[in-house]
Amino acid sequence: MIRNTEYARRRRQLMRLAGEDAIVIVPAAPERIRSHDTHHPYRQSSDLLYLCGFREPESVLVLVPGRKAGQALLFCRERDRERETWEGRRLGPEAAAEALGLDDAWDVADIDEILPGLIEGRSRVFYEFGRDREFDLRVLGWVERVRGKARQGVPPPHEFLQLGHLLHEMRLFKSRDELRVMRRAAAIAAEAHCAAMRAVRPGLHEYAIEAELIYRFRRHGAVPAYESIVGAGANACVLHYRDNDAPLRDGDLLLVDAGAELHGYASDITRTYPVNGRFSAAQRAIYDLVLEAQRAAIAEVRPGNHWDAPHEAAVRVLAEGFLRLGLLKGSLDKVLEDHGYRRFYMHRTGHWLGLDVHDVGDYRIDGEPRLLEPGMVLTVEPGCYVAPDSKGVPARWRGIGVRIEDDVVVTADGCEVLTDGVPREPEAIEALIAEGRRRDP
Ligand code: GLY
Ligand code: MN
Ligand code: MN
Repeated sequence: MIRNTEYARRRRQLMRLAGEDAIVIVPAAPERIRSHDTHHPYRQSSDLLYLCGFREPESVLVLVPGRKAGQALLFCRERDRERETWEGRRLGPEAAAEALGLDDAWDVADIDEILPGLIEGRSRVFYEFGRDREFDLRVLGWVERVRGKARQGVPPPHEFLQLGHLLHEMRLFKSRDELRVMRRAAAIAAEAHCAAMRAVRPGLHEYAIEAELIYRFRRHGAVPAYESIVGAGANACVLHYRDNDAPLRDGDLLLVDAGAELHGYASDITRTYPVNGRFSAAQRAIYDLVLEAQRAAIAEVRPGNHWDAPHEAAVRVLAEGFLRLGLLKGSLDKVLEDHGYRRFYMHRTGHWLGLDVHDVGDYRIDGEPRLLEPGMVLTVEPGCYVAPDSKGVPARWRGIGVRIEDDVVVTADGCEVLTDGVPREPEAIEALIAEGRRRDP
């Protein structure tokens, strides 16, 4: 869990960056209908979570740096016995300030009355425009109300800035407390992947493996950080495969991309392994190549290296391998220059990881890949995908899809792999599958 003292530290830092003449407005994520009158599971906006940890919908955090009567303010739903009986408990404004360590809290039903008064006299509004159309219009409406008072000598704000510009740079660097939660999220996901490996066998369906993952996540109070990808055989070549309903066949590989989210923080792991417990020679050749690419990429994760360095290292190993295995023809230089390798490796080698699985934070600064710095967390996930209908490719490689994905944090002198709890060496994977068979023949 993240403590209130840490949330307070983050808000102080953000207010310092925003300046004394600013106001910061951070709304809750909207609730989404799944069908008719049932909703998708509610997930709070990561920005709001980051700044106060409050999980209820229909709330708005407002930071007013330097305001004498209180700087950190929350609008949230009033308590309501009848609604709470049906929909669940609400903290309510009365308890919210104390519970969350904020200066004040009001009923969100009164926000139209109160917020324009807080905007008055502030020259800059920090808000993430373009994420929630409906809320954008409300912000503009509040600003209009202040503009309407200009003749009474109330100066309206004249600068509107994307909050993410400040906030997402802060979110990119993980604190010690955040890393503690992320290590735990990674350990839960690793345990779930191990359980999935022990359970795999021909005759099951992809969803049975997904069930193993969800069971492990929920046992530890975590939820899936994204829809798990469980793709057998050629389904592994569909990068965002989510049907998860095909049978597991003897001789196929199974690609499992699944991560746990704990206290809002994501993990993101992919393992690929044989349904029958033994890699074939062709599967093993591709697997070893992807593993070699991942090792080369992880070796490049250290402070001072460019964000692109792990990707470039992975691409070089993969391109060499594609030539060696006869997947591509020509010279290495040409394959790298023309991006010919993209036929079998069409995605990047990783992304930032944090409250969002594809976390916020710029990858480039002034057009140049940024330097890695301690506290950044990223995934390293090379792969190789040979579509079953690939033309001009030796038949033995067709329909093989492999990805190996781990989560790493940049440390002072290199990196720490958070997801070592699940094996990636092929022998260790085969041993774990065999253990599952022994336990439950
Ligand atoms: N599971 C999403 C990704 O690997 O980026
Ligand atoms: Mn990923
Ligand atoms: Mn993934």
